[in-house]
Amino acid sequence: MIKMHINTQQTHGTISRYLYGQFAEHLGRCIYEGIWVGADSPIPNTEGYRSDVLKALQNLNIPVLRWPGGCFADEYHWMDGIGPKSKRARMINNHWGGVEENNHFGTHEFLRLCELLQTEPYISGNVGSGTVREMQQWVEYMTLDGESPMASLRKENGREEPWKLPFFGVGNENWGCGGNMRPEYYADVYRHFSTYVRNYGGNRIYKIACGPNTADYHWTEVLMREAAGLMDGLSLHYYTLPTGDWSGSKGSATEYGVDEWFSTMKNTLYMEELIVKHSKIMDKYDPEGRVGLIIDEWGGWYDVEPGTNPGFLYQQNTLRDALIAGINLNIFHNYSQRVKMANIAQVVNVLQAMVLTEGDRMLLTPTYHVFHMYKVHQDAELLNVSFDSPMYKHGAEMIPQINMSASVDANGVIHLSICNLHHAESASIRCLLEGVEAKQVIGTILAHSSLNAHNTFQQPNEVAPVTFTGAQLEEGELIVELPPASVVVLELK
Ligand code: AHR
Repeated sequence: MIKMHINTQQTHGTISRYLYGQFAEHLGRCIYEGIWVGADSPIPNTEGYRSDVLKALQNLNIPVLRWPGGCFADEYHWMDGIGPKSKRARMINNHWGGVEENNHFGTHEFLRLCELLQTEPYISGNVGSGTVREMQQWVEYMTLDGESPMASLRKENGREEPWKLPFFGVGNENWGCGGNMRPEYYADVYRHFSTYVRNYGGNRIYKIACGPNTADYHWTEVLMREAAGLMDGLSLHYYTLPTGDWSGSKGSATEYGVDEWFSTMKNTLYMEELIVKHSKIMDKYDPEGRVGLIIDEWGGWYDVEPGTNPGFLYQQNTLRDALIAGINLNIFHNYSQRVKMANIAQVVNVLQAMVLTEGDRMLLTPTYHVFHMYKVHQDAELLNVSFDSPMYKHGAEMIPQINMSASVDANGVIHLSICNLHHAESASIRCLLEGVEAKQVIGTILAHSSLNAHNTFQQPNEVAPVTFTGAQLEEGELIVELPPASVVVLELK
């Protein structure tokens, strides 16, 4: 029996809704086919956007959407993607499969998508192969009200009013695909480019600098030392690979056993150590915690679905991905004093996606369901949960079996999201709720008898949330019986 204690009277800051951000790159079938099919497509669409995908994503309450990359961002020239579609320049998408990019989905199409999803845009600018002038003009094009060359061009292209642009990234992975820079060099480049990312009129831009790859603490040190005063956020990228090895096979998305299940859980928990260590460096230069740690790429990354283009990063999504999502979101909540935004990679048809499409069919993945179950935490107040987790042992290794977070929303409703990482053992929890007399507990669970379970176009509801009956209130205590390999969200009121 796990003894747990939650003090509902003391809160620890707000869980930013931006932790539930998404990422859409010009990569494989994410934008084209997955989101944008064009108004003439036989696939039912709204102004060219797939209606089924729009509806599914609207139901997720996505707070922020990152675009156009990724590695694509540092090759993207925004002026190629405005004006009449028939006249837009074509290019080769060098990073992702070498396919033709016709630029039919550009600035106007992205910002309209954000309006349809009621989400806020986060645009990544081109540092690697772009110019300061190009970046400056893009921001002017989108946000300047009144008269200017770029505002006039926007109006000629059919958009009178400027858009609001709350988030802008100055490059992406500039330590790698975005220019192979050293942090000492990029820190100066960031200072230079970001100077021209201007606030026009009432628009206020939260500027995000390219941060470290995984455990590159030197990068964080240099960026914070040299440029913290000019940034609002510093990004961090970390992907969960079952093998932990970028050089060989990353592991199959669906064909795995207990060894790979355990290593995936272990590797995804590593996110916590990364946040703690990067935050410690940030604390040194920014003790008030003004600069946000922005985890704008995360999620599971496996070998591509057999038979698909290796440059398209299309992979299936199983119960294991549900655990990855649940665990990472809990970690982000628990460190939300420093972690201000996160964007899972990616929203449709790429890596750990929310939805997968095939022709005119669409399915919701287990990851989608976790995001849907967890959205009750958006902008709620974090509660501290103290407990000693039993250990999940596998061979000579062990990790905590239980991972969780809790919050209280504006109506006083408490939510607990709990993951049982163990592939075979259930867990019993007895939780003392200090400071609240809850009268009712209801819950939802995502679980399955098979560790490899996933949704297919033939069986799209194989993994789906159902009502959870394993929680009860007994004399002011919450008693929970968690099945193995499960994600549960409880509501107490
Ligand atoms: O999300 C896929 C790719 O992963 C992105 O383009 C890049 O930033 C990262 O390496």
